[in-house]
Amino acid sequence: MDFKNKVALVTGAAVGIGRATAIQFAQKGADLVLVDIDSEKLKDLKTELAVYTEKVLTFVVDVSDEEAVYEAVKEAISVFGRIDILINNAALWRVQSSFLDTPTEIWRKYIDVNIMGVLYFTRAVLPSMLENKWGRIINVASVAGVYGNANMAHYSATKGAIISFTRALAKEVTDKGVLVNCVSPGSVSPSDHMDIDYTRESPLSFMGRTGSDRENANLICFLASEDASYIAAQNIQIDGCRKKQ
Ligand SMILES: NC(=O)c1ccc[n+]([C@@H]2O[C@H](COP(=O)([O-])OP(=O)(O)OC[C@H]3O[C@@H](n4cnc5c(N)ncnc54)[C@H](O)[C@@H]3O)[C@@H](O)[C@H]2O)c1
Repeated sequence: MDFKNKVALVTGAAVGIGRATAIQFAQKGADLVLVDIDSEKLKDLKTELAVYTEKVLTFVVDVSDEEAVYEAVKEAISVFGRIDILINNAALWRVQSSFLDTPTEIWRKYIDVNIMGVLYFTRAVLPSMLENKWGRIINVASVAGVYGNANMAHYSATKGAIISFTRALAKEVTDKGVLVNCVSPGSVSPSDHMDIDYTRESPLSFMGRTGSDRENANLICFLASEDASYIAAQNIQIDGCRKKQ
């Protein structure tokens, strides 16, 4: 896999799957646009990536802030000329509460970040991809969006939406050179753990362990590469053979 002369934008890049994906893109030659709300961790990542590339733009942007998203993408395109690869990875998932205990404001927040954030970035970036007749969009969903997780109805619903959004959008743009896919991680090791290969025991997969950030990044980068040229509209689960909840 080689990402020389490719520009990749990763949201939620500061930690976890997003960070591991940014590292892999940088190692393989991509120019990077990294977005997160965590300015400190984003700065740390830029420093960490400097051994591979200096061509890294960072934006401290909340993905649910529509205007800020369009401004950031406009600026990134003015610097790099285009965006070839979009990884919609930023999301909220840590609030667990029963359906009846989950207030509307939490539902709205999850919808704003997990769905609208994906929509805004896709809307901002897609015209540049269509113009170039080449693009890759990889949305990070979850097994929760496939099976549904108890006490995470709000999260599960947003991730289910992302999976169907992926399939629908792919049918509009595949013949124009833009391949849209989704990955659905199962349990991943703690996203603030610095070791991207870290895993721990998990009863939720038949492999008996969580997935590492690198394993998730491997799949995302494959889908973003030329090697994945005949794959579109898919949701690929990366879950160690999930024991369905
Ligand atoms: N970790 C898991 O077990 C797991 C399982 C299934 C799916 N996922 C999905 O993988 C993706 C990455 O999760 P993770 O656990 O690696 O990281 P994480 O959820 O811990 O962090 C994601 C990053 O997104 C950023 N972020 C959060 N809200 C944001 C916003 N509004 N605007 C901009 N940035 C924002 C955070 O600051 C953080 O750096 C998410 O889409 C998540 O739903 C994770």
